[in-house]
Amino acid sequence: MTVHHTLSAHDMTLAYGELAVVHDLTLKVPQGQVTAIVGANACGKSTVLRALSRLLVPRSGSVLLDGVEIHKQPTAQVARKLGLLPQSPTVPDGIIVSDLVSRGRNPHHSRFTRWSAADDAAVAQALELTGTADLAERYVDELSGGQRQRVWIAMALAQQTDVLLLDEPTTYLDVTHQIEVLDLLADLNQRAHTTIVMVLHDLNLSVRYADCLVVLRNGRLHAIGPPVQVMSERMVEEVFNLGCRIVTDPISGKPMMLPIGRHHNAASAAVTDGSAHSSPAAHEQH
Ligand SMILES: Nc1ncnc2c1ncn2[C@@H]1O[C@H](COP(=O)(O)OP(=O)(O)OP(=O)(O)O)[C@@H](O)[C@H]1O
Ligand SMILES: [Mg+2]
Repeated sequence: MTVHHTLSAHDMTLAYGELAVVHDLTLKVPQGQVTAIVGANACGKSTVLRALSRLLVPRSGSVLLDGVEIHKQPTAQVARKLGLLPQSPTVPDGIIVSDLVSRGRNPHHSRFTRWSAADDAAVAQALELTGTADLAERYVDELSGGQRQRVWIAMALAQQTDVLLLDEPTTYLDVTHQIEVLDLLADLNQRAHTTIVMVLHDLNLSVRYADCLVVLRNGRLHAIGPPVQVMSERMVEEVFNLGCRIVTDPISGKPMMLPIGRHHNAASAAVTDGSAHSSPAAHEQH
């Protein structure tokens, strides 16, 4: 039976040297749900994910994994519970796809354990799910950006953790692969109740796939809650400084954001069914 783990940040301030980039953030990651972190470039999304995954020690405050400070837990122990897909992972020199994906199994081994059939199965399943099985013998640094991204996702999947943190998992992917990856994460969440936290830039896909939307602005929590409550024209204006209209997504029935831009005026952007979602989010925090 899978053990479900809890992850939370408390009054967390994150800094690089003297520069604090995330301020007093408290965030209880919804267990067994899909959370999307959104916000403008440089607002602190990746920094938050790094702290949640133990890579960055908070200047103050804490991150708790199963109620215990994550930075006081050994790396391998954390890595058996929690996997991270960083925003720009570095490819080890001269490595082929199957070897890279196999590294996802490292946390499950010590010096005294041997590679097992279960490891083979985990790697094969991760390659299969990400559509990268036919790349298994290729050098990772010779792959296209999108192929490589799916290989990194395969490595994270091979780790078979209960909590999965992904920094822009759809970067470099064509639209079909974006949807495939998000569907795959949704499957994992539904079948195994995997807790998923992902940074996404596509607000409409965030709304579609996330149960909880976390909106960051200048390193602070701006809003948190179900996407239907959080997504609003006002939020997009405040957080992204972008005029938009919110309409109803005909596929999902959820709010869908249409940016206006300088080459279209608001009058020509008028829509008939956006009013339902144009009110400010109930959960906005300032
Ligand atoms: N290693 C680092 N050293 C110093 N400053 C950093 C470092 N990494 C990030 N920063 C700074 O911290 C701030 C937040 O960066 P972060 O990468 O968390 O943003 P982000 O929201 O993920 O942005 P993006 O959408 O562009 O990925 C930025 O001002 C960035 O320049
Ligand atoms: Mg980032």
